[in-house]
Amino acid sequence: MAKRFMPTIVRNLEPSEGPRVDLRSPGFRILVVEDETLIRDILVRKLKGLGYECDWCENGLAALNLLPASAYDLILTDLMMPELGGLSLLRETQKFCPDTAVILVTSVSDLNIAIDALTHGAYDYILKPFSLQEVSVVVARALEKRRLLLENRRYQQHLEEEVASRTKQFREALELLQQTYHSTLLALGTALDSRDADSDGHALRVTLYTLRLARQVGASEADLKTIEQGALLHDIGKIGVPDDLLRKPEKLSESEWQLMRLHPEIGYRILSRISFLQDAAKMVLNHQEKYDGTGYPAGLRGNEVVLSARIFAVADTLDCMTTDRPFQRAVTFELAREEIIRVAGTQLDPAIVGKFLEIPLDEWKTIAQEVKAKAKAHRQVS
Ligand SMILES: [Fe+2]
Repeated sequence: MAKRFMPTIVRNLEPSEGPRVDLRSPGFRILVVEDETLIRDILVRKLKGLGYECDWCENGLAALNLLPASAYDLILTDLMMPELGGLSLLRETQKFCPDTAVILVTSVSDLNIAIDALTHGAYDYILKPFSLQEVSVVVARALEKRRLLLENRRYQQHLEEEVASRTKQFREALELLQQTYHSTLLALGTALDSRDADSDGHALRVTLYTLRLARQVGASEADLKTIEQGALLHDIGKIGVPDDLLRKPEKLSESEWQLMRLHPEIGYRILSRISFLQDAAKMVLNHQEKYDGTGYPAGLRGNEVVLSARIFAVADTLDCMTTDRPFQRAVTFELAREEIIRVAGTQLDPAIVGKFLEIPLDEWKTIAQEVKAKAKAHRQVS
């Protein structure tokens, strides 16, 4: 008897419309569940004849007992049976053996139930009375549909694993790249220090001071990264200042000072061409500005100076005062703090100075000692 309803995927597998279905598929395991002995025997004989491994039982309950131990590829079940019917067996199979295909065998009077079962996961149905040729085609189609679903799922899983693996590789590469950037900037900062006879460890120390103060101010992680880059490279523009000027033991003449004062703009020009250093470039441009507008190169005042540069200015003042310079011996951290308080509102942003005062002096001293120990260890290695 011809069927009026067909699930879409089954329609696609019609021999006339899609790939040819191999009706003989040895190796597949099928369970026939049927209470009518004659029909059951016919089905089992036919399926075995087609090369399938075939078991049988009389009702849904008996089938459930067989399911856990036997991995069936397909169950061909009658709809109406004593003990447990085909629909209940379908539900239980989906719960415990979701990869097993289920085909319902039904009479015309139960056709609507069988059709409804298709929307609940049944692969197909066969109407009684059926021809054995029809059984062969429906079983083969269901097994082919199941194969495609399993293959699709395996492909999906493989794809997800592949995506996860590639994402992990990408993250690791990115991390390595960031570490490399960081090491490069650190090396560059140290190299810049080595040109200035009096600033051994200055770049690293002032960077750590600036980061500590920026955290106190409440800078975000992204801002901290920019601040670290800007602090490490704040004097990169001194590349454009001659060595003898940087190392001159006497005071600079006015014309020499004019040359020296170009370094923030030179630094800005260098860094602003590098996309990931563009924010840091603004900090470098502003790092010699003063809160009251007496700094250089633009004489900016107050909030016109970027926040990162205002934070840097406090850290830089602390470092300049607590390290030996050609014209000035280092003073204690206590004295440096007094001086910072004194210039709050003129050279330095008073709000940032307020944040600086919240941090115990011992923390600054510890940072200075750590940088000193690192520099000593580095000298011993090299
Ligand atoms: Fe500078």
